[in-house]
Amino acid sequence: MADIYRDAAEFYDIAGRPYWKPRATALANAMAPAAQTNSPIIDIGAGTGLVVEIVGAALADVPILAIEPSAAMRAALASRVQADPALARRVTIAATILEETTLPDRLGGVVACGVLGYLTPEDRHRLWQLLADRLAPGCRAVVDAAPFPATRTVRPIRVGAARFGECRHEIWLGSRPAAVPGRIELTTICRVLRDDRTVRESVSTQEWWAMDMRTILAEATAAGLQCRRAGWDLATLAVSSTDSLNAQLSAATASTKR
Ligand SMILES: C[S@@+](CC[C@H](N)C(=O)[O-])C[C@H]1O[C@@H](n2cnc3c(N)ncnc32)[C@H](O)[C@@H]1O
Repeated sequence: MADIYRDAAEFYDIAGRPYWKPRATALANAMAPAAQTNSPIIDIGAGTGLVVEIVGAALADVPILAIEPSAAMRAALASRVQADPALARRVTIAATILEETTLPDRLGGVVACGVLGYLTPEDRHRLWQLLADRLAPGCRAVVDAAPFPATRTVRPIRVGAARFGECRHEIWLGSRPAAVPGRIELTTICRVLRDDRTVRESVSTQEWWAMDMRTILAEATAAGLQCRRAGWDLATLAVSSTDSLNAQLSAATASTKR
């Protein structure tokens, strides 16, 4: 399968760092209950490891399973994890897509940010069900909405810039409605400038399901999850205490029958 992040991986953190800075506390707070369980946190589409870094720093002992199919993104992820021995001890990296990853029976937390748009509606529903079935009592998932609407064109905007020696690196994102309703064609422009002249540039496009917050909340609620907004584009999902009690009872009954 082609690596859709082959060109953008080098530029990803230039936009990703400022994206996560104001959201780090909400993310860490949402994952905090995992510390009371023996269950790992799953980071679906871990990218370059910005979420792993935030969650790893906030929760000293919790194991993390970082699922990341892109080799280019994984190179940055592995480098970030290896640079911190405390992270390297407990972060497992899976070079797979969610749909092909075997997950533990009990989950201390789940982060699915920047990734819902890649899942088909069927796979997305399977994810809601997985959360309803496997999130440990009191534990939460964090998900985010797409950055662009499904219904109108957004001309590319600069979402990050950083100086590297004599050059400025920039990343731009734009979108337009795709042929299939609910999907967008996302354009990523990565550019390196020296003395305000472009010395290299890559333009890539990919299609996404433009998941808005209203749809996320409606689907997750229908799957029996309790949903809370945690910012304009973030939501936390948890199992209701009755559902979690029922899930524990059926797990206990199943293990007695075995
Ligand atoms: C926009 S990046 C988000 C990275 C990271 N979660 C963050 O918020 O900084 C989306 C990531 O999801 C990965 N991805 C795409 N499809 C996936 C799938 N089906 N299962 C798991 N990861 C996937 C991509 O390779 C990419 O690294």
